[in-house]
Amino acid sequence: MSPSSESPAAGAAPVLVDTRNRPLRDLRVSVTDRCNFRCTYCMPKEVFGKDFQFLEREALLSFGEIHRLVRIFRDHGVEKIRLTGGEPLVRRKIETLIEMLAYHDDLDLTLTTNASLLPQKAQALKDAGLKRITVSLDALDDAIFRRMNDVDFPVGKVLAGIEAADRAGLNPIKVNMVVKRGVNDHEVLPMARFFRGSGHILRFIEFMDVGSTNGWDMANVVSSRELVERIHAEFPIAPVDPNYRGEVAERWRYLDGRGEVGFISSVTQAFCKDCTRARLSAEGRLFTCLFATEGTDLRSLLRADADDAEVSAAITRVWRARTDRYSEIRTAETAKMRKVEMSYIGG
Ligand code: GTP
Ligand code: 5AD
Ligand code: SF4
Ligand code: SF4
Repeated sequence: MSPSSESPAAGAAPVLVDTRNRPLRDLRVSVTDRCNFRCTYCMPKEVFGKDFQFLEREALLSFGEIHRLVRIFRDHGVEKIRLTGGEPLVRRKIETLIEMLAYHDDLDLTLTTNASLLPQKAQALKDAGLKRITVSLDALDDAIFRRMNDVDFPVGKVLAGIEAADRAGLNPIKVNMVVKRGVNDHEVLPMARFFRGSGHILRFIEFMDVGSTNGWDMANVVSSRELVERIHAEFPIAPVDPNYRGEVAERWRYLDGRGEVGFISSVTQAFCKDCTRARLSAEGRLFTCLFATEGTDLRSLLRADADDAEVSAAITRVWRARTDRYSEIRTAETAKMRKVEMSYIGG
């Protein structure tokens, strides 16, 4: 047996592991690099303006190509597929892709969205076979939210999107809030108050140095430890065991039984040790870390008529060679390095 394969259970395919013994479990698939928002921490307008060259249509993997890759990744142990972007719902007929992927009913099939198109799309997504959904929402205060999305999008429409997802049964709904000191950190308690008891799970994300255009500065990061203290002072909380090994968010429950909150602490408490995530860009490049600089082009293989075994071997090579642990080794210098943008690689 090869040194980078764990002992398989009788009859099962060997588990593919990287140089740090981490299996490949999740695949995050970016279906477009475009978005109808310009969140200041992700797609600042000065960079992603009207002259910005987004990927051409032909450059994007087709739904057939994505489906084929997902099938091959699944054979390597992938259990969860998360569709991302940019904004995945701006990709035309995304329901068709979901229907194709939902064929594999053992996959946890989910999607991260800004919710702007959910009021009209939630039911179609559910009908196509999407299991659950995660929504990004950074403030309840309309003025702050409009300033952060930087396209003057009202918060009421995002809340309507969350309600539509709830009605359609895309549960459990998770709500991601990126916290930036001095920008929206005073919205933390109002957000906690609002989502407590709603059945939705609010998660606070430390502002990260992804990409190289978002002006990241440690001074803007509010640590999860500080957030836990702030919330605990008003609504007592206690830690809960993870749902699965390598879960990104640390879970805490409200002691009065009104649900739970999560904390995603990539900056102050790296979780690379158990990172099982691969990322596929909209044009078919495979990345093994959110903070990567280079990816491996799988689209060329697909378009050169490679058979499944060749594509599979390419994925195996990449994962076996994987050494990534960016968040564990982050410094002020690495934070300034050129890295792939979050809107390109998917969150
Ligand atoms: P579930 O547990 O399946 O609900 O999902 P998740 O927590 O993996 O999903 P989600 O996509 O909502 O992740 C939340 C956020 O955490 C992302 O938008 C990123 O900001 C951050 N994140 C997710 N994966 C990673 C990772 O591998 N590294 C880092 N540094 N951040 C990550
Ligand atoms: N830091 C932390 N989270 C970010 N996201 C985008 N950019 C950043 C950043 N710089 C989050 C979004 C969304 C997900 C796709 O990634 O808010 O929830
Ligand atoms: Fe768009 Fe999400 Fe990036 Fe905001 S964080 S610009 S909604 S992709
Ligand atoms: Fe995984 Fe890279 Fe994030 Fe670490 S920094 S958890 S290796 S994606």
